[in-house]
Amino acid sequence: MRKFCKPKALESFVRGLKARRKTIGFVPTMGFLHEGHLALVRRAQKENDAVVVSIFVNPLQFGPKEDYRRYPRDLRRDEAILRKAGVDCLFAPEVKALYPGSFQTEVRVRRLSTPLCGKSRPGHFAGVATVVLKLLHLVAPGRIYLGQKDYQQFKVIERLTADLNLPVKVRMCPIIRESDGLAMSSRNVTLEAPARREARVLYQALLKTGSLIRGGERDARRVQKALETALKAAHGARVDYAELVDAETLLPVVKLRQGSRVLAAVAVYFDKTRLIDNLLIRV
Ligand code: PAJ
Repeated sequence: MRKFCKPKALESFVRGLKARRKTIGFVPTMGFLHEGHLALVRRAQKENDAVVVSIFVNPLQFGPKEDYRRYPRDLRRDEAILRKAGVDCLFAPEVKALYPGSFQTEVRVRRLSTPLCGKSRPGHFAGVATVVLKLLHLVAPGRIYLGQKDYQQFKVIERLTADLNLPVKVRMCPIIRESDGLAMSSRNVTLEAPARREARVLYQALLKTGSLIRGGERDARRVQKALETALKAAHGARVDYAELVDAETLLPVVKLRQGSRVLAAVAVYFDKTRLIDNLLIRV
């Protein structure tokens, strides 16, 4: 596996791949890798000649009161994991390599960035869109792989690539979970043991929502209330949002129309750790 920290070195590696007509699959991450990340890597390996993974804890997507400093990091361990997985190239730049002092550009995907996580994390998706656009320019992949775990992020990047005519296909992979259903996340290690046990509630509440709808409930407000109530039952859970939104626009749904696709999405704080999860439901 090749490892680069400098954009110029990465670009010349990419030029080499392109000269040999190799297709490139790209998996952007913030590191502290887990099986969720590796599922993206394996899918990328299946569908491309070469796979590039980036590890970059992007300061632009963290708010001033968020966990940028606390975000877990272990580059040595991540490197070993990626080497073992047979990844071709790791791009792990320093902050100043992507954001020199002169940096001042921001890319914003307007409507999709405002609901759900956008409400409590203003500027978050602009930070994501900006770094992903930079990375796409550097890696120039034919396909980028993203997890459904961050569904809103997937929609934002899908929109970004379409709006700016980027020659890349955006692929979404299913959510990988721990044995008790908790969606894998680098942030899970920051949960104290009692909170870790209670954190199962996110997926359990989502599953209940799914069965309510399958059972014929069509009043979105009632479903939303039930979702919220289920989350609040967990000890120490502080609900940021519990919503039922249209899977395309991410706007709240009122009536659950037969055949429509909705997203049940939740964000819950346990102490300082913010967890998110979601379920796509075909009504
Ligand atoms: P990060 O949280 O490290 O996630 C990297 C990718 O892994 C994202 O596409 C995310 O949706 C996916 N992922 C995380 N947990 C997953 C799980 N349990 N199952 C499936 N996929 C999962 O998302 C980011 O980093 C950043 O915002 C980034 C896109 C790298 C931009 O900075």
